Amino acid sequence: MIDIHCHILPGLDDGAESMEMACAMAEMAIADGITHVIATPHASQEYAFIPKLVRARRDELQARFEGRLALATGCDFHLSFENLQSIRLDPTRYTLHQKSYLLVEFADYAIPPSLDQALHELQLAGLQPIITHPERNPLIRAKSERLFRWLRQGCYVQVTAQSLLGRFGKSAQMKAEEWLDVGAVHFLASDAHNITSRPLQLKETFDQVAGSRGEETARFLLEENPRAVFEGKPLPWVPELDESTEETLPARRRKRFWIF
Ligand SMILES: [Fe+2]
Repeated sequence: MIDIHCHILPGLDDGAESMEMACAMAEMAIADGITHVIATPHASQEYAFIPKLVRARRDELQARFEGRLALATGCDFHLSFENLQSIRLDPTRYTLHQKSYLLVEFADYAIPPSLDQALHELQLAGLQPIITHPERNPLIRAKSERLFRWLRQGCYVQVTAQSLLGRFGKSAQMKAEEWLDVGAVHFLASDAHNITSRPLQLKETFDQVAGSRGEETARFLLEENPRAVFEGKPLPWVPELDESTEETLPARRRKRFWIF
């Protein structure tokens, strides 16, 4: 499996606190069957993103795991005015493995209408935005239509693997399941921060998705689409979006959620 979103690099944000913890997270990933990881430190008001430093930490960690785990760098890009100005000057500064895909994170408390335009501008700059864990955002959960609009606009969606295991609460889990059902999810990733509450593991989620939706779907979400991102290639799997919103889903489908 390939993880496109995690905070494994030490001392850069609220992820790994030390090189020892980063090594423990890497060992955890290897034991879980993960072969490639894109380390994505935050770029937000709280955490400065300094590519040179990110690269140095990556090189140090990579040297300890050569031949066992492939490490690339990217960024957990907070969609702020300052970041947007910065990315205009240097589009690949923040992208995953310095290719064309960009993780985009929204604030939990406000989603201004100008976001649609901001996403569009990123696309015009040749970038492919990946909306991160919308299932954990109460504002997006309350209005799937907003997310679907971004999808129609050509954005992609990454759900946190642990959300499907219920570790971010029932609402996030149900919404993640529902969006998987309607073809609104393209990636599952760990968003790991440590070795306890936010571990660098994907296998349990892989098994759950393989059990409920088939192994092929699990492979696309956790291997094939992430590999395309790693390599900067077009996604091999983009399911057709069923544009019915929760409110307008046929009774038959609604009933299925109750059975779950
Ligand atoms: Fe993150």
